[in-house]
Amino acid sequence: MGKDVIVACDFSSAEQTFAFLDKFTGKKPFVKIGMELFYAEGPSIVREIKARGHKIFLDLKLHDIPNTVKKSMAVLSRLDVDMCNLHAGGTCRMMTAALEGLTRPDGTRPILIAVTQLTSTDQESMENDLLIKEPIDKVVMHYALNAKNSGLDGVVCSPLEAGKVHDVCGTDFVTVTPGVRFADGDIGDQKRVMTPAEAKKIGSDYIVVGRPITAAEDPVAAYERCVAEFVD
Ligand code: C5P
Repeated sequence: MGKDVIVACDFSSAEQTFAFLDKFTGKKPFVKIGMELFYAEGPSIVREIKARGHKIFLDLKLHDIPNTVKKSMAVLSRLDVDMCNLHAGGTCRMMTAALEGLTRPDGTRPILIAVTQLTSTDQESMENDLLIKEPIDKVVMHYALNAKNSGLDGVVCSPLEAGKVHDVCGTDFVTVTPGVRFADGDIGDQKRVMTPAEAKKIGSDYIVVGRPITAAEDPVAAYERCVAEFVD
């Protein structure tokens, strides 16, 4: 799996997004479009960014009955995204159905990855709200294995979990890791962070980087620094 830096375009309008992307006159970064931008602008934002030459991770985290997810994934594969995701908590049946929907006439499909437990969920909220009493790291690895056994390509996880996910699910199982910060940068609201170089060392396949690039004085230089540390 080719290592790459995915830039989280956490903007609320097409205008802001294109003002940001216009700065990248050389290599077009792999970008992540999340719920905020997708719900604000609709599918046209995906087509427009794709037409500009970017690869796209569409981060919509599907979670519904298998039939609905299957049909929705069919729509997303026609949008020509390169990566999309769902919640492993939707069960193996839902994940299998998602893969069935995610097909294109030419036989290709986007990479499909699963969210295990959100990093905003801690042991206490998992036990009290979801009535899951097992240790959270065991739950995360169990969900990752469910994703693998359902035929998915990988999971979103913290860079700190990437090594263990590879140990449990194999080195070909893709790890996509947010929570990346430069050694001399602001942590912001992220709790457990790693530098791009550390994420590379631990075996992350893709890092998702938002504010260290989008809020930088020189976003292109910040992106290039990420690529230099993580990929080159
Ligand atoms: O700005 P920052 O680098 O923190 O952005 C990280 C991106 O990764 C955001 O789009 C955020 O929603 C996403 N993300 C995350 N932590 C997770 C899952 C996704 O930060 N556990």
